[in-house]
Amino acid sequence: MASQKTSSNVVWHHATITRETREELNGHKSAVLWFTGLSGSGKSTLAHAVEEALYKKGCRTFVLDGDNVRHGLCGDLGFSIEDRTENIRRVGEVAKLFTEAGTVVLTAFISPLKSDREAVRNIMPHGDFLEIYCAAVLDVCEERDVKGLYKKARAGEIPEFTGISSPYEAPVDPELEVNTGELSLEASAEKVLNLLTVRGIVT
Ligand code: ADX
Repeated sequence: MASQKTSSNVVWHHATITRETREELNGHKSAVLWFTGLSGSGKSTLAHAVEEALYKKGCRTFVLDGDNVRHGLCGDLGFSIEDRTENIRRVGEVAKLFTEAGTVVLTAFISPLKSDREAVRNIMPHGDFLEIYCAAVLDVCEERDVKGLYKKARAGEIPEFTGISSPYEAPVDPELEVNTGELSLEASAEKVLNLLTVRGIVT
C-alpha cells in the first residue's frame, strides 16, 4: 500500500503566503499534538477538551480523529498491521499540511506501532511533532468499554483488536505522558496546555 515518495514530473510550487506569515497572523505557532493510546484510553476526549481550551484562546485548531477519518479518507483501510501503517502515513501527511496552514492539529489515533509514529515525526520539521501518550492501562479501557468493542473482541467477534489480539507499543520517550486512566479530564487537559506553553507554541 505504501506509495512512492514523489509522483513523476511534478515540481514543488512555493506559496507566497507561508507558514510563518500565517503563524504571525494567528498569533501562535503550528504544531501536531499526536495523541496515542489504546482504544478507550481517552485520546479523542482529551484532544477535543484541549481544542476547546485553545479555541477559547483564539487559536486555529483542528482535530483528526481515527473513527471519523476512517469514514472517508481512510475508509478503504482495515486493521491489519499494513493498513494501520497506511492509515497513520496518510494522517501524518494531512497533519503536516495543517501545520503549513498555520494550525494546531490534534490527532487521536491508536497508532500502535512505534515505527509508524516515528515515520510521522520524521516528515515534520524538528519540534512540530509532540507525542502525547494517553497511558490508561488495558484493564481500565476494557472496564470502561465505551463502544462495547472489547467485549466483542474477547468473544472473538473482532479480529486483530489492539491490546487483545494485536500489539500496542507504548511510547518510550514521549513529549508528554498523561495517565488518562486516573487523572480528571480537566487535569489531563491542563498538562497538555502546559506543554504547549513551555514549547512556546501558544502564550
Ligand atoms: S489505528 O490502529 O489505525 O491507529 P484508529 O485510531 O484509526 O486505529 O482506529 C481505532 C478505532 O477503530 C477504535 O477506537 C475502535 O473504535 C475502532 N476499531 C474497530 N476495529 C478495531 C480493531 N481491530 N482494533 C482497534 N480498534 C478498532
